[in-house]
Amino acid sequence: MNLLNHVAIIMDGNGRWGLKYKNSRNAGHKEGLKTVEKIIKQTIRHKIKFLTLYAFSTENWKRPKKEINYLFNLLENFLNHRINELYKQNIRLKIIGVKNFSSKLNKLLNASEKKTSKNKKLQINLALNYGSKFELINAFKTLYKKKEKINEKNLSKYLQTKNIPDPDLLIRTGNTKRLSNFLLWQLAYSEIFFEKKLWPEFNEKDYNKIIKKFKNIKRNFGKI
Ligand code: FPP
Repeated sequence: MNLLNHVAIIMDGNGRWGLKYKNSRNAGHKEGLKTVEKIIKQTIRHKIKFLTLYAFSTENWKRPKKEINYLFNLLENFLNHRINELYKQNIRLKIIGVKNFSSKLNKLLNASEKKTSKNKKLQINLALNYGSKFELINAFKTLYKKKEKINEKNLSKYLQTKNIPDPDLLIRTGNTKRLSNFLLWQLAYSEIFFEKKLWPEFNEKDYNKIIKKFKNIKRNFGKI
């Protein structure tokens, strides 16, 4: 049976769910946050150490301002109301991506990371303003500047995911089969599950089913 140390998730389908059931994309994001809470609980139950959630990509800035504002308000509210609880549950929050938001949100993100930095049970990596190509270019630039040898070990030091093991499992909901500039380097050997359900309708049972399937896959890592 495979050990499961790190799950990464592309939480796709909020907008479609919101339009279908509430005539509003933002209502889908609100509902999507409930799925986030359920999945965090299950991740702890499975004793998984790292959970990486793709919440906002560098490309998501192309969305209407109203939707972007709604998403960041949702995040702000979530942190203001839940960070103490995450802290008490021994959860560490880490942001991957470039923190160039409003100074208020940047402060809140930094404070949330700092407050939970010693926690050990589960590390949640929240990908915000994250783009894998940008991350890789930056890492190569740093290697070049520091005149370091270009190899896997050195490159990994300059990724946002420094000190985070690569995901064992990637789940993408929303019936779309693409990676959308997410962890392109880190997913090299991950098992990938594409799920038809939209993120707000994805539930504990769906997650448990994928985990069970993952555990029984023969992972070769290039060997036979
Ligand atoms: C993708 O669905 C989802 C997002 C871009 C945002 C994800 C945000 C949440 C799950 C809620 C907020 C989370 C936190 C941690 C505060 P989409 O909008 O691209 O859906 P679509 O493909 O149906 O348009």
